[in-house]
Amino acid sequence: MELNIALLHGDGIGPEIVDSAAAVLEKTASEFGHKINFTPYLIGGAAINAVGKPLPQETINGCLASDSVLLGAVGGPEWDDLPGDQRPEKALLGIREALGLYTNLRPAKLYPALRSASPLKAEIVGDGFDIMIVRELTGGIYFGDRGFREGRYGQEAYDTEAYSVTEIERIGRVAFEATMKRGKRLCSIDKANVLESSRLWRKTMHTLAEKYPEVQYSDMFVDNAAMQLVRDPKQFDVIVTSNMFGDILSDEASQITGSIGMLASASLGDGKRGMYEPIHGSAPDIAGQNKANPIATILSGAMMLRYSFGLAEEADRIEKAVNKVLEAGWRTADIIGSSERTPLTCTEMTEKIIEVL
Ligand code: IPM
Ligand code: MG
Repeated sequence: MELNIALLHGDGIGPEIVDSAAAVLEKTASEFGHKINFTPYLIGGAAINAVGKPLPQETINGCLASDSVLLGAVGGPEWDDLPGDQRPEKALLGIREALGLYTNLRPAKLYPALRSASPLKAEIVGDGFDIMIVRELTGGIYFGDRGFREGRYGQEAYDTEAYSVTEIERIGRVAFEATMKRGKRLCSIDKANVLESSRLWRKTMHTLAEKYPEVQYSDMFVDNAAMQLVRDPKQFDVIVTSNMFGDILSDEASQITGSIGMLASASLGDGKRGMYEPIHGSAPDIAGQNKANPIATILSGAMMLRYSFGLAEEADRIEKAVNKVLEAGWRTADIIGSSERTPLTCTEMTEKIIEVL
């Protein structure tokens, strides 16, 4: 199979982790007799510095012409003072929208080898947890009407949360289908006790639930969900939620797995093309120091093989290699915990994984 992959390195640790994941993909492809063509494009602060805007048209066109996209991270203090619509983060929203990627799958799984890196007590973690967060990605407050206006207390800024039945239904369907392939338990998270958009969300989910009688469906308010995730994460199988709640809860879920450096994600639309990225950010504090944990991006590469190319065996191979390296005790700085070992650098961790492959 020939795979045409667009690489969006972005900012901070983005270049390091994307190169790591590309090397792992390259090795996997050669083991299985596939050919990969990587084409890099500019995005985020790197694009601002090079061509004056965070999401050049060439990048959009390049991604649209590719089979799939691998992204590192965007943003950094250098661009923090730019107006909202010129910031690196705007490019990420722009590319998600341009590619029609309304589904964001964020699996949060505790690796047995990393049990001690989880901040949760052993009796809470038990034999581990395995949660799939299905986050809506192209709607809600991230894309709603926003601006400045004269308010009751003078000048104010506002953002709007809005969801249509169509948007809720399409993300709901993805979540129910994903649940059918897993533990058949789906929890929809909203703030229906306060927000009108959440009440429509809940009503629409209930209508969908009738079509999936095998799924054990429940609703939960987001404040309670934030609490339940640390109180008893094992109660969750699949979670479906809005763009902003998903952003927040997935960071929380990542932390209880031990490190945000471990969590991969897949952004999908109606076609095969997706964008795959770690859920963490650009970590400007450690950028360029070869200290980043490349595992989230490497696992994102595995998700790409699985979801965009249907190469399940190849994806398994990468996930197993990561597992083996962790089982053997190798750690980057973020997951070293109280171990006596010296942490591996980003490139060393990548080499370890490639060796096992
Ligand atoms: C994420 C990030 C992005 C988001 C930012 C960088 C725009 O936090 O992918 O979770 O909020 O979606
Ligand atoms: Mg986030």
